[in-house]
Amino acid sequence: MPRPIVATIHLDAMKHNLARAQACAPQSRVWGVVKANAYGHGLERALRGFAAADGLALVEIEHAVRLREMGWSKPILLLEGFFEPADLVTMAAFDFNGAVHTIEQIEMLEAARLPARLDLHLKMNTGMNRLGFTPAEFAQAHARLRAIPVVGEIALMTHFANADQPQTAYLPIEEQIRRFRSGAQNLPGACSLSNSAAVLRQGELKDALLSHWVRPGIMLYGATPSERSALDFDLRPSMTLSSAIIGRQTVAAGAGVGYGSCFRAEQAMQVGIVACGYADGYPRHAPPGTPVLVDGVKTRLIGRVSMDMMMVDLTPVPTAHVGSAVTLWGQGLPIDDVAQAASTIGYELMCALAPRVLVLED
Ligand SMILES: Cc1ncc(COP(=O)(O)O)c(C=O)c1O
Repeated sequence: MPRPIVATIHLDAMKHNLARAQACAPQSRVWGVVKANAYGHGLERALRGFAAADGLALVEIEHAVRLREMGWSKPILLLEGFFEPADLVTMAAFDFNGAVHTIEQIEMLEAARLPARLDLHLKMNTGMNRLGFTPAEFAQAHARLRAIPVVGEIALMTHFANADQPQTAYLPIEEQIRRFRSGAQNLPGACSLSNSAAVLRQGELKDALLSHWVRPGIMLYGATPSERSALDFDLRPSMTLSSAIIGRQTVAAGAGVGYGSCFRAEQAMQVGIVACGYADGYPRHAPPGTPVLVDGVKTRLIGRVSMDMMMVDLTPVPTAHVGSAVTLWGQGLPIDDVAQAASTIGYELMCALAPRVLVLED
């Protein structure tokens, strides 16, 4: 029998969350972002969960090919574009759209001899300072791209650094929008702007944020991109990580638990051993106190997370026994609560789900 740890993917939640994104940005088409194996959910499940999306966006060209092989016929966007000339051949063969963010990519396109035209997203760096041409360089990059015979439609794209922080004084979303509009001048082409945090602010920012395409990722998986809770946005968890108690210990007052004996019992207590460790993707740095559900009752992690196991305080659930159900995150325990306790974000927890964890669907 395999270990009892299981990740359950909730396809209905994925569909619901996509509908939420569509409702937030009703005038835009939606790229469902499925990079990193659909944030740990699996490409094939994403294909079904996001069947109603207008396109799928990711960074891994080999996964984009798999999407086509699995039957996805709508647009596919490569968010980092291409890395070498051979990628352009694949893009033409499978009709992939791709970001263009450096002069080197433009040079590759100028040298390419392809059997089909490529639709592309020209990316502007409006302050994220990650990928893209500055607003001052943008029109020239566009003109150079436009002159290349293999280039078809050119969409205009940028990415927000602080859409999740409405109160920020430094580089608020409004400033990035202003830079984008000024750099794009009157260039033709569809615009692609918002990530989840911005999609969730569409109602507040209205026309200023209007774009032909939006690119939500994390909200589709039911986690929050901001300090507000996913529940506030009516998002539903799409992944529940669960396991079971596989052992129990009565620990005497003053005794340590786990590696380094970091946790010391203040009084005699019952400790449950859970089949889940950092080799399953649970963060090793999660501190004592990180929430866990045992038989639906909230309790806490104690001691250091080890490779295959972790220990939990059974004081609030004295009836717990070997075989009791444990929820690490998901339905009943928001992934964002676990992420916050572990000083990380829901994105990282989902993406880190290890290949050895059995994945099921409900
Ligand atoms: C270019 C781009 N667009 C959209 C997204 C989706 O972002 P989020 O998951 O915050 O919605 C990402 C993710 O990092 C991205 O890199």
